[in-house]
Amino acid sequence: MTNMQKSLLDSGLRTPDSGPRTSPCLDTVRQTIRQMHGYIPGEQPQDKRYIKLNSNENPYPPSPHVMAALQQAIGEDLRLYPDPVANRLRDQVAARYGLSRERILVGNGSDDLLTMLLRTFVGQGDRVAFPAPTYSLYDILVSMQEGEVVRVPFPTDFSLPAQLAEVEAKLTFLCHPHAPSGILPPLRQVEALAQKVRGMPERRKDPCDPCSPEYSTA
Ligand SMILES: Cc1ncc(COP(=O)(O)O)c(C=O)c1O
Repeated sequence: MTNMQKSLLDSGLRTPDSGPRTSPCLDTVRQTIRQMHGYIPGEQPQDKRYIKLNSNENPYPPSPHVMAALQQAIGEDLRLYPDPVANRLRDQVAARYGLSRERILVGNGSDDLLTMLLRTFVGQGDRVAFPAPTYSLYDILVSMQEGEVVRVPFPTDFSLPAQLAEVEAKLTFLCHPHAPSGILPPLRQVEALAQKVRGMPERRKDPCDPCSPEYSTA
């Protein structure tokens, strides 16, 4: 046995018959996670000749105001932690929408907010409903929480499926505008559905995931 073979055996990466083996660390990974398949992103051309609309890339440059604000933010303060609860931003958003600061949650993009929601509200066996097909991350996040996914098929015209209201789900997701169709049901329809959805006892939880409104049909 060569030294290399011996060290691979010692590290647990090879079995004595020299066949490849998964790392022993994997034995400690939660069963639920081990059963999941790795995420396969869509095609990722490297030559910068394409705008990946499917990844929310924008064919237009950022607003000059955004560029100026970013440039201004790059300074010595980068060595400091930002306000962890983003109070200044929450106050401004709250003032814009006539809400109190406590009603505003800030995250690193929608995926972060979705993760927070799932972690907070969904445990083993809890139901999460959404119309299907839709954003694939909903399935993944529910599986990670060991919750139960309830997919309610869209009618062929992609109007909101009324059956969503019949699922006794703890959380109901609605992608608005809908991905991948881009259809944007009127807010009064969303509101009517939200009124009917039975969620948690005290307050209904029916988050709208407003990703990519720029690409919607309405
Ligand atoms: C419906 C939907 N929600 C959320 C996201 C993620 O958005 P973010 O980049 O803000 O995390 C995407 C990204 O494609 C999406 O399609």
